[in-house]
Amino acid sequence: MRVFDSITDFMNKRQSLDGPLGFVPTMGALHDGHESLVKRSLRENKNTVVSIYVNPTQFDSNEDLEAYPETLLKDSEKLEFLGVDALLLPKLTQMYPDSFRYEITEKDFSYEMCGAYRSGHFVGVLTVVMKLLNIVRPNRAYFGEKDYQQYSLIKDMVEAFFLDVEIIPCPIVRDPDGLALSSRNLNLSSCQRIKAPLIYELISSKSSDDEVRLKLTKEGFDVEYVQTKFGRRFIAAKIGTDPSIRLIDNVELMT
Ligand code: PAF
Repeated sequence: MRVFDSITDFMNKRQSLDGPLGFVPTMGALHDGHESLVKRSLRENKNTVVSIYVNPTQFDSNEDLEAYPETLLKDSEKLEFLGVDALLLPKLTQMYPDSFRYEITEKDFSYEMCGAYRSGHFVGVLTVVMKLLNIVRPNRAYFGEKDYQQYSLIKDMVEAFFLDVEIIPCPIVRDPDGLALSSRNLNLSSCQRIKAPLIYELISSKSSDDEVRLKLTKEGFDVEYVQTKFGRRFIAAKIGTDPSIRLIDNVELMT
């Protein structure tokens, strides 16, 4: 696996890579969910590129950014073992040579659900993904369905801007007790880890959105939203205080 910490060096190398190229953009702290995206890309493409970049513009608070777990050595060993061809580790000044003058704004769905609670989050996500797609120029890019709203906004952005890349959604990977894998799970205390699967248990139950909210609130969760849309039930809820840990999840509803 070649590791690039220079965007220019990567873009020079990109020119010589032929055949389908798969791309998995990440913020590191890789878990089995990321691994499933990487494995799928390795199966479907001649070359696979993974990026690790903790994008500051998608965090709505400094505490959240600072608390984001970093496990770079383990991550790169894992990617090398899986057989990834290139790992891109861009630096802040390289990613934002415009000093944040340009950004991508979506004016509808990005204000709902997570967007209603994390001001500017999707502007940050869409802007960095646009940059990464232009740097890597993949044929296929893989996104996890845990961040379904993110996946949906990226898919629509790619269509809106006529980008020549296929956006591929990949199913949520869960721990045996149902908790959706997330880098943020690393920050859960053992008590919080025991409680967290209740989120999945309740959104998969027959309870109404309001009942789910009520039951989780009684258990001490700070529920942001429980909402049914696109045949799925979505949730965001915080657990703990100082700092709280924000968990999101969604399930496809059986018809
Ligand atoms: O899902 C993530 O890890 C991030 O939002 C992404 C897509 C890598 C953009 O920073």
